[in-house]
Amino acid sequence: MIIKSAEFITSATKPSQYPPAGLPEIAFAGRSNVGKSSLINTLVNRKHLVKTSSTPGRTRLINFFDINKAITVVDLPGFGYARVSEKVKKNWGPMIETYLSTRKTLKGVVLIMDIRRIPGQKEMDLIYWLNHYSVDSILVLTKTDKLSKNKQTQQQIDFAQALSVAKNELILFSAKTGLGKDALWEAILFLVESRSQHNQTKVPCI
Ligand code: GTP
Ligand code: MG
Repeated sequence: MIIKSAEFITSATKPSQYPPAGLPEIAFAGRSNVGKSSLINTLVNRKHLVKTSSTPGRTRLINFFDINKAITVVDLPGFGYARVSEKVKKNWGPMIETYLSTRKTLKGVVLIMDIRRIPGQKEMDLIYWLNHYSVDSILVLTKTDKLSKNKQTQQQIDFAQALSVAKNELILFSAKTGLGKDALWEAILFLVESRSQHNQTKVPCI
C-alpha cells in the first residue's frame, strides 16, 4: 500500500462527535499498551501520526485518521488497564460498544494482541461483541521482535488453540521491524473490498 496522505480527523466519545460516515472504516482494538497506536504508525509509514506512550492508558478517546482520502483508520482506547479511574473504566465499554454497533461504515476490526500474552477474558469479550454485531475481524500478534523465531511459532500455535482459529489466521507483526505490514494491509484491503461489494447489513448473531 503506497501511503500518499495520512491525517488526523477528529477525536470522539459519542456518535454525534464522529466524523460524517463516508469512507470505509477499519478500527484497531486491543489491551492497553499492547501497541495499537504504534502499529497504526508503522502501517501508514508515519512515526508520529498517532501518539504512543510507554504509559498504559494513553489513548482515551476514539481517534479517527484519514488515509489516502480512501480509508478511515480508527484508534480505539485500550482495555484492561487497572490504574485508570472507575469512571473511565465504566465509560469504556459503552463508548466502544456504541461505536462498534452503530458505525455503518465500519468494515472490520483489527484485534491486536501481545504475542507474549495468551488472550484472556477481555479479548474473549471483545471477540464476542464483534461476533454479536457481525463485525469482521483480523487477528494480529504484535511485538514479535521481543521473541525468538521459534518462540514466535510456539506462541502462534498456542494463540490459535486458545482462540479456536487456524494458525495462519494470526498475523505476526512488529512495529519495530515492520514484520507483517504487507500481510496486514492485504487483510485490511480484502475486508474493505469484500464488504463494499456485498454491501452487507449487520445482523446481530448471538
Ligand atoms: P494505549 O493507547 O495506552 O492503549 O497503548 P497502545 O496500545 O496504543 O500502545 P502504544 O503504541 O502506545 O505502545 C506501547 C509501548 O509499546 C510503547 O512503549 C511502544 O514503543 C511499545 N511498542 C509498541 N509496539 C511495539 C513493537 O512491535 N515492538 C516493541 N519492541 N515495542 C513496541
Ligand atoms: Mg494508543
